[in-house]
Amino acid sequence: MTEMFLTLEGVTAAYSNMEALRRVNVQVEKGKIACLLGSNGAGKSTLIKAILGLVKVVEGRITFDGEDITREKTHRVVRRGISIVPEGKRIFPKMTTIENLRMGAYIEQDEQAIEERLERVFELFPRLEERAHQIAGTMSGGEQSMLSIGRGLMSSPRLMIFDEPSLGLAPILVEQNFETIQRINEEGTTVFLVEQNASLTLEIASYGYVLQKGKVVAEGTAEQLTDSEVIQSAYLKS
Ligand SMILES: Nc1ncnc2c1ncn2[C@@H]1O[C@H](COP(=O)(O)OP(=O)(O)O)[C@@H](O)[C@H]1O
Ligand SMILES: [Mg+2]
Repeated sequence: MTEMFLTLEGVTAAYSNMEALRRVNVQVEKGKIACLLGSNGAGKSTLIKAILGLVKVVEGRITFDGEDITREKTHRVVRRGISIVPEGKRIFPKMTTIENLRMGAYIEQDEQAIEERLERVFELFPRLEERAHQIAGTMSGGEQSMLSIGRGLMSSPRLMIFDEPSLGLAPILVEQNFETIQRINEEGTTVFLVEQNASLTLEIASYGYVLQKGKVVAEGTAEQLTDSEVIQSAYLKS
């Protein structure tokens, strides 16, 4: 049986009186990788902010794991088990790698649990273990990107949302990130991947949505979207 983990039903969101999302319907199935594709300014980050209670939801409903989370405060949404890896690898540049990772587990009191999660992150990213005591701001872009994903994992989320993890990274690093995202999913975490890079995203996602000017203009399985007119014409040029 398919179980919807995250749903947005008819969600309209606005900045003061500028509507950035218009009656959006999106569903993320438990255990899967779903994706949201769209170019710059389409409203992708706004959709994430709507889930996190960071932008005004004017109408519609958002649920997570069967419960209504519409307009819920950010920290409460996070406590439910949703973790965001934000756009532009936002890390704490003056802290070390390990301090950054521990920040990701700030809700957790159990030191044993934190240690286990650190081990898991270091297993996924051996490079981060080598750089455990390096000041994060002095690391390479690729390493900072790994750190950003690692920090997102430290809360042991049930749903991980990635906001354009390919942004500003060399192709080889993008591929590595996507392999890691796939592995995180295979180990049991549901993933919602928000991206502009349609070709790579559709290789790992099972279902997806295309957002244009705040509206969902196409949806379907990865195969359907890959063959679709909207993706072929606008996103698979590279
Ligand atoms: N804080 C804000 N205040 C007003 N308008 C915003 C704000 N953030 C984004 N927008 C506008 O909302 C639209 C969608 O932006 P965004 O969700 O960031 O798009 P994407 O993440 O797809 O590039 C854009 O027109 C953008 O200019
Ligand atoms: Mg964005």
